[in-house]
Amino acid sequence: MSNDDLTAFIQHLPKAELHVHIEGTFEPEWMFRIAERNGIALDFPDVETLKRAYRFNNLQEFLDIYYIGANVLITEEDFYDLTMAYLRKCHEQTVVHAEIFFDPQTHTDRGVAFDTVIRGIRRALEEGERRLGITTRLIMCFLRHLTEESAMETLAQARPYREWIIGVGLDSSELGHPPSKFQRVFDLARQEGYALMAHAGEEGPASYIREALDLLHVSRIDHGNRCLDDPALVEELVARQIPLTLCPLSNLELKVIRDLSDHPVKIMLDRGLLATIHSDDPAYFGGYMNENYLQTALAVGLDREVLRRLAVNSFKASFLADDLREEWIRRVDQYCEAYP
Ligand code: ADE
Ligand code: ZN
Repeated sequence: MSNDDLTAFIQHLPKAELHVHIEGTFEPEWMFRIAERNGIALDFPDVETLKRAYRFNNLQEFLDIYYIGANVLITEEDFYDLTMAYLRKCHEQTVVHAEIFFDPQTHTDRGVAFDTVIRGIRRALEEGERRLGITTRLIMCFLRHLTEESAMETLAQARPYREWIIGVGLDSSELGHPPSKFQRVFDLARQEGYALMAHAGEEGPASYIREALDLLHVSRIDHGNRCLDDPALVEELVARQIPLTLCPLSNLELKVIRDLSDHPVKIMLDRGLLATIHSDDPAYFGGYMNENYLQTALAVGLDREVLRRLAVNSFKASFLADDLREEWIRRVDQYCEAYP
């Protein structure tokens, strides 16, 4: 298949986005617009200069800039605009279902109310479903570089909005902040009925994935690249069909891999892992879902059948209700069968 054919095939393939941080969808153009309306000066004179700063040697270098960018988000309208812009992007890319992370502590720690953040996001999600037909779920992540106490407080702040949040996750600086640090928070979240997931094995070792499974009782692993270092862990992930939400362009930009052709997605699928492809922080890493699918397909050599499997896996790994999940899997198969 030519590159143009592959591009067209991916463009209309129905997909679910399961690993995206809403703060990571903050495009520089929107950042300047919102900064201006809030009377905040950015440290960069223009969009081009800001974009040139998006060069990272590791996860921490990225996070340092990412948190600065998020500082201009102040009002409910800001969170609404951010989320709405992302949903329009989903619509353009045939992403029909999106499970979106937000990091409340990034905002509450600088005095923005939890209520402001979640109401802005929620209003956009409702509108996105009504106007664009995109179904969504919202997932609250705890920042792992902060304390267990701060995560506990955040879980308490979320209580009035319980029905708007499907699950909790764990993100930010991985090394030195193992899942075990949040065992009690996840115990409580489990009692409250949240779905559980965690970033693990992105920069951190396979043992962090093991901890996320055994101590936090997660049902999904975000990234999980390093599982391949531990054959017994791979065996368990395969047996339990625990989804791994991979983010190839993120891995490339954060130097988790040296070259996109080194990405392990194909190896993982061949071993029977439930691997999926997502965008993580698309405004920072040069691509949304379709760019992640396409560039990975070209670099690793994924054919239409593998892309079909990735799209099917994205629905299998989602928190959609069973009937809708089955319906989208049927539609993916129909699309692929009918494709010339
Ligand atoms: N927060 C946003 N993107 C992240 C990533 N790739 N890893 C950990 N935390 C994040
Ligand atoms: Zn992530």
